[in-house]
Amino acid sequence: MLSKVIIPVAGLGTRVLPASKAIPKEMLPVVDKPVIQHVVEEAMRAGFRQIVLVTRSGKEAIENHFDANYELEQMLALKNKQALLDAVENTLPKGIEVISVRQPSAKGLGHAVLCAAHVVGGEDFAVMLPDMVIDDEGKTCDFSEMVKRYQKNGAGQIMVEGVPQEHVDRYGIVDCGGIELKAGIGAPIRGMVEKPKRDEAPSNQAIVGRYILPNRVMQLLKTTEPGAGGEIQLTDAMLALLAEQPMEAYSMCGTVHDCGNKAGLLQANLAFGLKHPETSDALREFLKYRNL
Ligand code: G1P
Repeated sequence: MLSKVIIPVAGLGTRVLPASKAIPKEMLPVVDKPVIQHVVEEAMRAGFRQIVLVTRSGKEAIENHFDANYELEQMLALKNKQALLDAVENTLPKGIEVISVRQPSAKGLGHAVLCAAHVVGGEDFAVMLPDMVIDDEGKTCDFSEMVKRYQKNGAGQIMVEGVPQEHVDRYGIVDCGGIELKAGIGAPIRGMVEKPKRDEAPSNQAIVGRYILPNRVMQLLKTTEPGAGGEIQLTDAMLALLAEQPMEAYSMCGTVHDCGNKAGLLQANLAFGLKHPETSDALREFLKYRNL
């Protein structure tokens, strides 16, 4: 049974300041939807029905986005603006539930996940990092593939992609014992390390921010000591899990945009904007005019 996905949204968004000064970074737009909506839609495509936001004060706009806005809906209905009404009402389709819990202090990703333990109960669960917007380019939804793999063998799944060697110190890095990971392929994990030094990384396969995890991780997080950056790291708890049971790396097929930084946010807007029926022609025209 896999129905809950934890999305930690308590981050400060310092890499996109000043845009994120008064609104959560997860509410910045990629074309016509906030970043968080792209992530929640990906969760829904993979079959998740309960979205557990790990949030903090000042981030209420995210909860409001997934709630009804009666005044706006009534006004759009009165004016017969059906398409807009659908867009507003469909931010959270029927049957999907959003639950919020608070992370009272910024102690790291592992700590954020642990804050949702009481909501998850005894179930296995997924984690999605909201900065990462995945463009599946009309192909397979990578997250759905991970769910299928988990359902077959019960092994925890971690999405990875190869990154340039000089960037390995920005990520959690997995060790698959030298197996060459091709897109859409999975492999058993032998080890993992959070933000290794460039010359100590076991590979260039970086953790992207999509995980399917056995419930046991919650127990292990309770005793995980602060690691890289002085924070309680999910990677360290997963490494402890690996000592007890097999886990798999899944190499993604799509393209990931890190919308937690300015360049990634712009790239996502360009990539999605070139495909969106309302913006693609104008954007193409602009790029052509500017010789871009
Ligand atoms: C987190 C994870 C890391 C992962 C990264 C992806 O790090 O701890 O393993 O590779 O997200 O963006 P953060 O970016 O929060 O420092």
